[in-house]
Amino acid sequence: MTIGITGATGQLGGLVVADLLHHVPAEELVLLSRSPEKLADVAPQIPESQRRAGDFADPAALEASLAGVDTLLLISTDVVGPERQKLHRNAVEAARAAGVSHVVYTSVPRTDPANPAIAGADHLDTEQALRDSGLTWTFLRNNLYADLQRPSLQQAAASGQLVTNVGDGRTAYVSRADCAAVAAAVLRGTGHENRVYDVTGPEAVSALQLATLAGPEVQVVAVDDAAYSAGLLQAGLPEGLVEVLTTFGTATREGWLEDVSTVVADLTGRAPQSVSEVVSA
Ligand SMILES: NC(=O)c1ccc[n+]([C@@H]2O[C@H](COP(=O)([O-])OP(=O)(O)OC[C@H]3O[C@@H](n4cnc5c(N)ncnc54)[C@H](OP(=O)(O)O)[C@@H]3O)[C@@H](O)[C@H]2O)c1
Repeated sequence: MTIGITGATGQLGGLVVADLLHHVPAEELVLLSRSPEKLADVAPQIPESQRRAGDFADPAALEASLAGVDTLLLISTDVVGPERQKLHRNAVEAARAAGVSHVVYTSVPRTDPANPAIAGADHLDTEQALRDSGLTWTFLRNNLYADLQRPSLQQAAASGQLVTNVGDGRTAYVSRADCAAVAAAVLRGTGHENRVYDVTGPEAVSALQLATLAGPEVQVVAVDDAAYSAGLLQAGLPEGLVEVLTTFGTATREGWLEDVSTVVADLTGRAPQSVSEVVSA
């Protein structure tokens, strides 16, 4: 069985490849990237013929690159919006046309039109495209990466304030490494066809708990969505990212990201990392 991984030079992709190489012969992996020349750095032991171009914006080339792939990890792209939906639909269609049988897709928790997180719309659309495609699929609904809390906690430690719009909401942060381990387990395992997995950390964490990790003196400053967005824009973040971060905060406040699952332990055999472990690593 041949496993393909899109976005293999990305952070998640690289971790998945490293994990798979502990269990699967290099000859059974096909790595895809918009920058195939960088794939030798990711895994030099994978034959050059299996390090291929994979840009969802070029579906014909992508279809050719997917030749021989049975199971594909489709890693969602990194710019939120309608263009991403189109790119993902291209990838699903290329997989179908190339004869891939099973697509494993990285999604977000609780894809539902009522979820205020703006990133959710893209994932809902891609999940629907996969359900309609005739392919078998697995949805890895990864919660927010614990790793991404490190810079905001460093900033909170420096300023003494953790500014947030999440209110009393809690998030079941999961480490990127645990997301990768689950993806690798699904890709090389059996019985995951047409299953939805909520991939979470061991507990749902509030802003107050996060602030404690930044330092004993750090205060939580609760603001509304408009003030939170304004602060991020003032700090120089691009508009699109501000909207993504603000609406994930809204979703957290409303409880959309708080569900905790046992998926990491069930599929990998080891306990998920806590936010505290990730940020202190
Ligand atoms: N759970 C969370 O908290 C969280 C946070 C941020 C993002 N995400 C999502 O999870 C994904 C993986 O996370 P990450 O940490 O690995 O992000 P990352 O390091 O920024 O990687 C971005 C990925 O998108 C791929 N990509 C971008 N445009 C593409 C295109 N046109 N065709 C094919 N691939 C394309 C890149 O592949 P190449 O460069 O190799 O082509 C790369 O794998 C992200 O892309 C995003 O959808 C989740």
